[in-house]
Amino acid sequence: MKVILWMLFACISYSALADAELELGKQLYMSPGKGGCATCHGETGNEPVMPMYPKIGGQTEMYLVNQMKDYQLKKRKNGLFMSMEIAMKHYSDEDIRLIARYLASGNFK
Ligand code: HEC
Repeated sequence: MKVILWMLFACISYSALADAELELGKQLYMSPGKGGCATCHGETGNEPVMPMYPKIGGQTEMYLVNQMKDYQLKKRKNGLFMSMEIAMKHYSDEDIRLIARYLASGNFK
């Protein structure tokens, strides 16, 4: 019985943790403090302010992390990369992971 209760608790706290991560990711994505992302990509990542800006909501987490790291490390130099090189300056690896989780989740409420 104790084991079952413990497992139940572990599941609940795991999902609470996952929710908390999505919330943190959203805050980082929306926050104008570090520059934010929504100003260019829109709240869900899919309403860019300019038609030539890409839609990024719903891409896979790994893809998003890789693109953000590439801009940050100055490895991606295509198209309109300059705004992204500047935008990614202030984010840590953990910030990037959380933002990618938020965007990949499709959970934009
Ligand atoms: C000043 C406007 C601007 C801001 C602010 C901005 N972006 Fe971007 N973003 C762009 C543009 C323009 C591109 C396309 C760049 C290119 O051609 O490589 C882009 C590309 C991307 C891509 C790659 C999309 C793909 O399909 O490969 C990702 C991921 C991304 N942005 C995430 C973010 C995140 C996360 C933030 C906030 C930390 C952010 N952007 C802030 C304008 C912006």
